[in-house]
Amino acid sequence: MSKLAIFGGTPVREKPFRSSVVIDKHEHSLINQVMERKEFSRFMGSPSQDIDKLMIMPSVKAENYETQYFSFLGGRMVRKFEADFAKKFRVPYAITVNSATSGLSSALGAAGIGPGDEVITTAMSFNATALSILLFNSIPVFVDVDPANYCLDHRKVEKAITKKTKAVLVVHLLGNPAEMDAIIKIAKKHNLIVIEDCAQAPGTKYKGKYVGTIGDLGVFSFQETKNITTGEGGMVVTKNPLFAKGVRLIRNHGESIPDASWDAESLANIVGMNFRMTELTAALGVAQVAKLDENNRVRTENSLFLADSLKNIPGLSVPKYRSGIVPHVFPVIYDRKATGVERQKILLALRAEGIPVGSGYLKLMYENPIFLKKIAYGKDRCPWSCHLYNNKREYKSGDCPTAERLLKEKFIWFYHINRPNTLRDMKDVAKTFKKVFSQMESLKAAKIEGAIGYKW
Ligand SMILES: Cc1ncc(COP(=O)(O)O)c(C=O)c1O
Repeated sequence: MSKLAIFGGTPVREKPFRSSVVIDKHEHSLINQVMERKEFSRFMGSPSQDIDKLMIMPSVKAENYETQYFSFLGGRMVRKFEADFAKKFRVPYAITVNSATSGLSSALGAAGIGPGDEVITTAMSFNATALSILLFNSIPVFVDVDPANYCLDHRKVEKAITKKTKAVLVVHLLGNPAEMDAIIKIAKKHNLIVIEDCAQAPGTKYKGKYVGTIGDLGVFSFQETKNITTGEGGMVVTKNPLFAKGVRLIRNHGESIPDASWDAESLANIVGMNFRMTELTAALGVAQVAKLDENNRVRTENSLFLADSLKNIPGLSVPKYRSGIVPHVFPVIYDRKATGVERQKILLALRAEGIPVGSGYLKLMYENPIFLKKIAYGKDRCPWSCHLYNNKREYKSGDCPTAERLLKEKFIWFYHINRPNTLRDMKDVAKTFKKVFSQMESLKAAKIEGAIGYKW
């Protein structure tokens, strides 16, 4: 067995993995179209002809709507991207935004979630999931994850419900779908809105349905590491015309649209932002959404290969992928008790061999000072100190032990399952895991130090 690279041996791999951005002539030609038309936005956030119809117009119809020069629904490329996305995901409304973070906030705002309300969400996700809840001054309530899929544990949701609970924000983490049947059942029983954060799961299906289309609203991300990308960008999908209207108003300076006939309920949360997508970004989106299936096919093929290749390594458990799951990251669970070697040494040894692995998120969302100290807007603990909110809500390490254990002891994440990486690249990954895991004795004895968190 060759010497481990961390002890001076030859690394298995010297070539870096390739980035997840795959573009071709399609992107170039659509970008050129925008350049030639010289139409870079075309959004107008003020009342216009047909505004009542526009606010609730289904995306496929909006694509061909003859607009004035500027429009409440944006330019031609934005509307084409929305129509293509709506067709792909079989939903009436797909609404572009400039990130999933702004999409999640718009979705919560459109659903009427506001000051004094609680939103139940998972402890483990990218920070934007929890931060989006704060935007309309509502309070995140974190629930532990299910060790089977790393998503919100549906068995723990009901216990977290209080009189203030208005919504559940589910995250389909790493491409795994959350247990939606159980979550929808609880939501129906308690009259809660369900929002799906699908930033990491575009194309994943749960019992034959695309995630994002099962709850009340779904949100996707097109940030550069996602399954399809526009650099930055997001999409909100919904079947509900009132939610679509709310998202469109929040996206685009909507406060100037209502007239005196709107009552308090319909005016609530129409605090318009500028979350609009540009025409150049949407041009990338049109080309990228056409690549979603092939990108997802390769992610799935690469992940299944890794799961099969690593399944018999003592000390490792591999994901059990059901059909319909499109992996976003490939996670394995490390069992230190089985090997006697700290996870940190394994991560550093794998990296030294040329395989960039990470330990997942550096902390859970509630472990950030914004929650531990409850300081968000101003210094006086708003929104927790709002007179509309009278629950005693504290956040502290130890709140969600399963999620904490996964991040602090168990996870090893490999990211580069994306196109254009192929099975040939995955063979290097499998070979490296086998090499490192066959030399545990040398790792056990060695003193190795280094940071382990995030490594791309
Ligand atoms: C689960 C999840 N939610 C939300 C986001 C935020 O997406 P964006 O960067 O498009 O705002 C991300 C991005 O990494 C994410 O992974």
